Amino acid sequence: MSEKTDQMKKVEVDLIGLKKSPLYKYRTENKYFPVIGEGCLNAKIMFVGEAPGRNEAKTGKPFCGAAGKILNELLASAGIKRPDVYITNIVKDRPQENRDPTVEEIKIYGTLLDKQIEIIKPKAIATLGRYAMVYVMEKFGLKSEIPPIGQAHGKAHDAKMSYGYIKIITLYHPCAAIYNRKKLPILTEDMQILRKFVG
Ligand code: URA
Repeated sequence: MSEKTDQMKKVEVDLIGLKKSPLYKYRTENKYFPVIGEGCLNAKIMFVGEAPGRNEAKTGKPFCGAAGKILNELLASAGIKRPDVYITNIVKDRPQENRDPTVEEIKIYGTLLDKQIEIIKPKAIATLGRYAMVYVMEKFGLKSEIPPIGQAHGKAHDAKMSYGYIKIITLYHPCAAIYNRKKLPILTEDMQILRKFVG
């Protein structure tokens, strides 16, 4: 096993046994899977969504339902192959009836996301939606730069990691195009920023 695979396995073991999470009971009672994330552990681009929905909790795979279909279209539009990137969420268990994650849940699962970022060492982190944007930007000390998502979408920010500078790209959540189909061209245009991290 490669070192990164081994390190990610440890994060997964922590997630599986995360009894302190308020979502743990809901997961086990419904025989749902926790969703650690999937993709390339050497990815240049890491996508961070909000939390698994029903399809994701039933399969253990991120973005495999309606939002995933839009995300796949957006990736293809920018010439990004899904297996080449790493896709995860801040909160890694499904919140009841897809309610918004709580501050406590974001804090608990955020430590796992922090470890995943350190393992993968991406050159760009693309946040999908407001929850991921706020968590990631606060983590990198960019709190003062956080505008509403309507202004933040499609922007790139510099952030310092232990291994050098990276870009944080703040994007709309793919669900925005489900609620309002007219937003799809905007989401498609925003995704093109990531082209330079391909290959
Ligand atoms: N929405 C998310 O934020 N993440 C998923 O994995 C699926 C839908």
